[in-house]
Amino acid sequence: MTDKAGLKELLPEEVVKAKIREMALSISKDLEGKSPVFVGILDGAFIFLADLIREITVPVEVDFLRAASYGDGTASSGTIRITKDVETDIENRDVVVVEDIVDTGLTFRSVIDHLRAKSPASITVAVLIDKRERREVEVDIDYVGFVVPRGFLVGYGLDCAGRHRELRGVYEIIK
Ligand code: IMP
Repeated sequence: MTDKAGLKELLPEEVVKAKIREMALSISKDLEGKSPVFVGILDGAFIFLADLIREITVPVEVDFLRAASYGDGTASSGTIRITKDVETDIENRDVVVVEDIVDTGLTFRSVIDHLRAKSPASITVAVLIDKRERREVEVDIDYVGFVVPRGFLVGYGLDCAGRHRELRGVYEIIK
């Protein structure tokens, strides 16, 4: 364990890396013969996406989407604004949405609805951390890395007020 001040290590780097290799193996098998577009949800998913696609064995394209949630800053309202849309034409393409963490599910569901409106051939969802603490709406996740019941997590792309994204593992903020 390599705890840092105010943080408790939850998922060490090697554990995350091993899980990503496992996820990439399943995704590659399921998408055999296809050339999917991986869509990373900014900002948090950039590290997960980078590690995931390098373990994928089918040819991939990469694009990004950023969504801002209208809310009071702490609670997700479920109404989103796309501040950066995908630039690839995903009509009739196989899309893999890559997200770091799903919590209430509100933001994520709106993002999926937004992408579905572009008529892709398929949408599959890969999420590193399924945090069920405050789940409000059901979201279909095809590939889940870890299920974490609660806590506020940082590291491996996840931030708290812009900090800690660079940590190699996933940590829980302790008070
Ligand atoms: P939602 O509640 O599922 O709509 O999640 C909204 C967004 O909140 C996620 O995409 C993350 O960016 C962020 N988020 C939720 N839980 C955490 C956490 O534990 N650490 C860092 N970001 C989080």
